[in-house]
Amino acid sequence: MRTTRTILALILLLASPFILTQFANAAKSPAVRTTENFCKGWKFVRGDVAHGETPGLNDSAWRKLDLPHDWSIEGPFSEDNPATPSGGALPGGIGWYRKSFVVPPTSKGNLTFVEFDGVYRNSEVWINGQYLGKRPYGYSSFRYELTPFLVYGGGPNVIAVKVDNSQQPNSRWYSGSGIYRNVWLVTTGKLCVDHWGTYVTTPEIKEHSAVVAIQSTIRNAFDREQKAVLTTTILDANQKSVGTVRTECVVPKDSLCRVEQRTTVSNPVLWNLSSPHMYTAVTTVESDGKTSDEYATPFGIRSIKFDVDKGFLLNGAQVKIKGVCNHHDLGCLGAAINTRGLERQLELLKSMGCNGIRTSHNPPAPELLDLCDRMGFVVMDEAFDMWKKGKTKFDYSLDWDAWHKRDLDDMVLRDRNHPSIVIWSIGNEISEQWSPEDSSSGATIAKELTGLIRQLDVTRPITSNCNKTTPSNPIIASGALDVIGYSYGQGSYLDFPKTYPGKPFVGSEAVSALESRGSYDMPSDSIRRWPSRWDVPLKSGNADLSCSSYDNCSTPWGSTHEETWRLMKAHDFLSGLFIWTGFDYLGEPTPYSWPARSSYFGILDLAGFPKDAFYLYQSEWTDKPVLHLFPHWNWKKGDSVDVWAYTNCDNVELFLNGKSVGTRKKVGDALHLMWRLQYDPGTLKAVGHSAGKPDLVQEVTTAGSPAAISLKADRTVLTADGNDLSFITAKILDNKGTLAPFADSMVHFALSGEGKIVGVDNGSEVSMEPFNADHRMAYHGMCLVVVQTSAKGGKISLNATAENLKPASVTLESR
Ligand code: GAL
Repeated sequence: MRTTRTILALILLLASPFILTQFANAAKSPAVRTTENFCKGWKFVRGDVAHGETPGLNDSAWRKLDLPHDWSIEGPFSEDNPATPSGGALPGGIGWYRKSFVVPPTSKGNLTFVEFDGVYRNSEVWINGQYLGKRPYGYSSFRYELTPFLVYGGGPNVIAVKVDNSQQPNSRWYSGSGIYRNVWLVTTGKLCVDHWGTYVTTPEIKEHSAVVAIQSTIRNAFDREQKAVLTTTILDANQKSVGTVRTECVVPKDSLCRVEQRTTVSNPVLWNLSSPHMYTAVTTVESDGKTSDEYATPFGIRSIKFDVDKGFLLNGAQVKIKGVCNHHDLGCLGAAINTRGLERQLELLKSMGCNGIRTSHNPPAPELLDLCDRMGFVVMDEAFDMWKKGKTKFDYSLDWDAWHKRDLDDMVLRDRNHPSIVIWSIGNEISEQWSPEDSSSGATIAKELTGLIRQLDVTRPITSNCNKTTPSNPIIASGALDVIGYSYGQGSYLDFPKTYPGKPFVGSEAVSALESRGSYDMPSDSIRRWPSRWDVPLKSGNADLSCSSYDNCSTPWGSTHEETWRLMKAHDFLSGLFIWTGFDYLGEPTPYSWPARSSYFGILDLAGFPKDAFYLYQSEWTDKPVLHLFPHWNWKKGDSVDVWAYTNCDNVELFLNGKSVGTRKKVGDALHLMWRLQYDPGTLKAVGHSAGKPDLVQEVTTAGSPAAISLKADRTVLTADGNDLSFITAKILDNKGTLAPFADSMVHFALSGEGKIVGVDNGSEVSMEPFNADHRMAYHGMCLVVVQTSAKGGKISLNATAENLKPASVTLESR
């Protein structure tokens, strides 16, 4: 069952006698909603199959797999793949999926739906040979009703899905291919809450009370009118009922009816970033004294505002948005959604002090929003990367006319109960901003899209990520936007109040600095801005296609990390920023091109290892004591080496081989400390002092030859559910335990026990090695192996070996 819903169901069972009755009914009678994870036991084949939907088709030779699945990540990388390096240089094509399943006779008389959270792209679905429909956009969630076509009891039902990602390029980043998000089989009674059929808002929040307004859409699939009793119960985070409202209504036959309810919650606990308190609205539909549906809507009570002078206000308090943009891939796991993979990304970002996510440039997996609700992130939920005017030859612009209204509606209907979402974005760097001949369609479409959103949700402002930041931008000039989103344009941030008097600001996309973990180009204070244009590959760069990690490398349209943050932190009206990007992603290897195949923009690399910039933000965005000293200390004797520290200490004294080389403190708006030293092998030791606090010490030592492997798992106790992951970092050390910063040993992994290796990576942007393997070269001394549990509990042992290195092992427990 869907994890959140299952957990909720379990908690409800334990907590409330009222709910207990409902779930007991659910167990006895199929008239109450069930939501079954429908991802296990599919068959898959690459390529087109004539009449692949035919129920009797012999698919015995097709590959067996479980969803979510992304076939592109299986590789291989090639310059000739039509996705191009910008799309990740991985294969696309067509794939077919089929699944046979039995529906119990007890389901007869109910409604059954199959729900897809996302299929990239052009999915077509059949049930028992009957065509259900097509969805071109690869990021929309959608469902089909199966009820009239099902065989109940006995003979299997066959669902077939054709996925067509053959027309390429269709994306500026790696999309993945296939049924890459979860699939659910939902059964409800004939009188039920409609799809995404609740909308919970909190129109009035006072210190001692909050009004909760619930709008529910009830569907009657009977061929006669139904009298229904709709009860909404508000549960707090301890599953205690804190409000109930009951409404009687009559739903015409084969129809829908909308019911508005209100209740008041006393002493509301507000959702905020440090303590994201969630409530649940449990909707029960009864008819003739019998429960025919139960539906849970998690929501939060919080107020939001983008203020012209004070920036972003959450529950009335000023909060600077310290956000990042992310694409949806999970590095070596590809586009296939894994909740733990996403949670790990968010945990790493949270530990950096990040508090915001922009779902660039499309609706995300629903699990991301659940996690942001639960972990305390604000979200900019974005609909599109293009409108009518395309950016790549076969992109969504081709489907725009037929689909944009439906896709936008579906995003808002699906997502509007998440307290984490504080702003909608109708588009990223839309091409209709630019040429005079497009300006009328730019304005018209902006108004149409914002109008569509406002029909469904007026509780959040709407923006668009505008890279034309002048008032002549037709999207801005249309007046449709509530908040003006700047894509870069940092040079004109400070003019904003004059340029757009009375309008709030958000840095919806910012920075675009470039770093490769572990690479350093000196002098560190000379900034390189390449390439001159995003679509022109760089002619002269580093021979190893690396970018320097001294924050001295950025795109010309963007800035270094320090340049933008310095501005952002100094001015209240700048509500905050979403940095391009939190994590490296597959595709868009600016400033290089082939054989580079993934981005350099991340604050963390593709494997999730922090680059140095991570500690810049940690020192600025958290109250934790931070002292991060870099680079490594393996240079040529006599080299002039710039030593940097990111810190929030009052001052830092640096010692080289025991001798002080000076104390530095951040003066004015400085964001790092620097010492220019003549290299001498040995140890650099930084001692950070802060009044009233213990000293912080960090050392960087010259590494000897690689001698041993070390393994460290992010989690050693895992859930035996066939999904949970442990991310295990392998480091190559010298014989004293110092990281060997240039080690590129081939590390072999061997696993035994109740799990399997599902991915390997090292964060290099140019590696052609497959992600689905049991070995990986180290890159700057590190690589990653991702282990997934099986559904059976037990021990999992992982051994790592490499030529001439002492091996290492780690044991995990899955239960
Ligand atoms: C922006 C764009 C992003 C990404 C970024 C790279 O213009 O919105 O999708 O391409 O540039 O700097």
